[in-house]
Amino acid sequence: MADDRVTAASGSVLREHLAGQLGSDPDAPDVLARWDRWGPDLLAGLAEVYPQPGVGERVVELIAAGNAARSPRLRDRDRDRILSPDWFQRPDAIGYAAYADRFADTLNGVSERVGYLRDLGVTYLHLMPLLAPRPGDNDGGYAVMDYGRVRPDLGTMDDLADLATTLHDAGISLTLDLVLNHVATEHAWASAARAGDPKYRDYFLVYPDRREPDAYEASLPEVFPNFAPGNFTWNDDLRGWVWTTFNEWQWDLNWANPDVLCEFIGIILELANRGVDCLRLDAIAFVWKRLGTDCQNQPEVHAITQVLRAAARIAAPSVVFKAEAIVAPRQLVAYLGRGTHAGRVSDLAYHNSLMVQIWSALAAQDARLMAVALSRVPDIPTTTAWGTYLRCHDDIGWAIDDQDCAEIGWNGWAHRSFLSDFYTGSHPASFAQGAAFQQNAVTGDRRVSGTAASLVGLGRAANAEQRQTAIDRLMLAYAMVFGFGGIPLLYMGDELALRNDDDYHLVAEHADDNRWMHRPRMPWDLAEQRHSPDTEVGRTFAGIARLIAVRRSLESLHAAVPTRVHATSNPAVVLFVRRHPSGDLVQAYNVSDSQVSIPAWEIEIHGTGPRIEALSQREMVPVDGRYVLPPYAAWWLTALGH
Ligand code: GLC
Repeated sequence: MADDRVTAASGSVLREHLAGQLGSDPDAPDVLARWDRWGPDLLAGLAEVYPQPGVGERVVELIAAGNAARSPRLRDRDRDRILSPDWFQRPDAIGYAAYADRFADTLNGVSERVGYLRDLGVTYLHLMPLLAPRPGDNDGGYAVMDYGRVRPDLGTMDDLADLATTLHDAGISLTLDLVLNHVATEHAWASAARAGDPKYRDYFLVYPDRREPDAYEASLPEVFPNFAPGNFTWNDDLRGWVWTTFNEWQWDLNWANPDVLCEFIGIILELANRGVDCLRLDAIAFVWKRLGTDCQNQPEVHAITQVLRAAARIAAPSVVFKAEAIVAPRQLVAYLGRGTHAGRVSDLAYHNSLMVQIWSALAAQDARLMAVALSRVPDIPTTTAWGTYLRCHDDIGWAIDDQDCAEIGWNGWAHRSFLSDFYTGSHPASFAQGAAFQQNAVTGDRRVSGTAASLVGLGRAANAEQRQTAIDRLMLAYAMVFGFGGIPLLYMGDELALRNDDDYHLVAEHADDNRWMHRPRMPWDLAEQRHSPDTEVGRTFAGIARLIAVRRSLESLHAAVPTRVHATSNPAVVLFVRRHPSGDLVQAYNVSDSQVSIPAWEIEIHGTGPRIEALSQREMVPVDGRYVLPPYAAWWLTALGH
């Protein structure tokens, strides 16, 4: 109670301060109304992590400055989005992720390719890191040296703003990465720290000797055990060990320091004012460290996100956040808000578990584990959504739970090792062509690199029939991604069945990191074939385009409604059931290469009446009381009339 009174009192002082800062801005009443709505979230988050005096005032000043610099056009966008807060949850929300240079050379190049995205039905574009990274190896741009500048070969901040406008006019929202766990060693903050400035030394986590690092290491996992073993790096200039979770040239930031918080509020609002609609909070799980833990998913992470989210909501309310937290399902849901953080942190989060389970089911030709694992994922707040995906720029880590495996009589370790063997092509039954990424000698973990097309078998297919089977597998996998609910994220090139780039190592900075094998350049000449149904590219493109078109027509795919996953009496068949007032949707998937059948009642129990399969527009009729599913069947069943 006492705390609430303190918060309320400081809230009204800060409100006055905000009003003073906004001055005669015509939108001041709107901003103050938003303060009244979201200010308490901001204050609660600050109270949890930054009790130091004066932080609230600084944040208010940043909000006022950010809002003052917001263009009339973006203020209109704010008003629109306040009226349609579910834009990213709707069935017509279709995502696409690409590296700007690999897709179209430059930001202006991307503007010129907007027609391609529109034709495909894309409404949300994630451009991979494009703010100035360190020269040389920079982890695909995730080692930023200047947040105020675009990578010079891609263009300028003004080009970024122009691109955002072009995208907005085409009905496409723009997502950019916000790398907030670390900066490049070349960033001005790191240089100032090395030069001996104590203010900036305190932006990082630096220890004079091995005592604390060793204590932390006792419970810390390794993210890149092969190319960056350990989590700390000695620096001569600092005369200390600096925290480096990822590569030695990515220095973790000290988020306990309110200066770091304020810097990032400034960065967020600057990007928002360039027209960025969604910020992907890179490696957000790692930002808070606590001795004796794995230093991921700490409660402070959510309080910090709540502060950042509230600040953005007040100054630039059209902006949403997407959490990149590749963590266990139980922890993942907290990024979309549990308990007091519900609806107050990220709006979107990657459904890593769905992705892993799709690959697992395809390899095992068995979907029972998927049903167990996905049923365990708690429901998310109805105002949020999953980002569903099959591939991204990262490797696939086998986030398979031992207990889930035990439930169906499998051994977790053995299954993970089977998946690594399978997708690196060394298992005798494998159809895949991938490579092992970051083999961990201690845990035995092997993650996997490779494009979706290569992993589903297009590279190894020896004849037309095998190629078609591989495409069917890809379509089944993407049907799950598009049918689960949440914004489906198509990874650049998957719509053209693009294979691994086997020459990735010819670029010196990429040679050590085989994730580049699945970050190919867009082959625009090949893309020309996309409308030729007799080609592999054409069939794949048509399949994806169909998923998009049908998805848009089904209101039941709105993300506010959860998907229930059910096993069936056939291990290869799994059901995704979505109950919605506009009509229920029952999806049936056969993850095997054989024709299988299940008793009709197993589907009918989820709703009665004849069923139209929405993707093929055919009526599905049981034969002798059973539904017969061809190999890799992906059915989206709606009741007749819907
Ligand atoms: C995220 C990115 C990954 C990067 C890491 C460090 O996980 O997706 O590519 O290596 O963060 O920034």
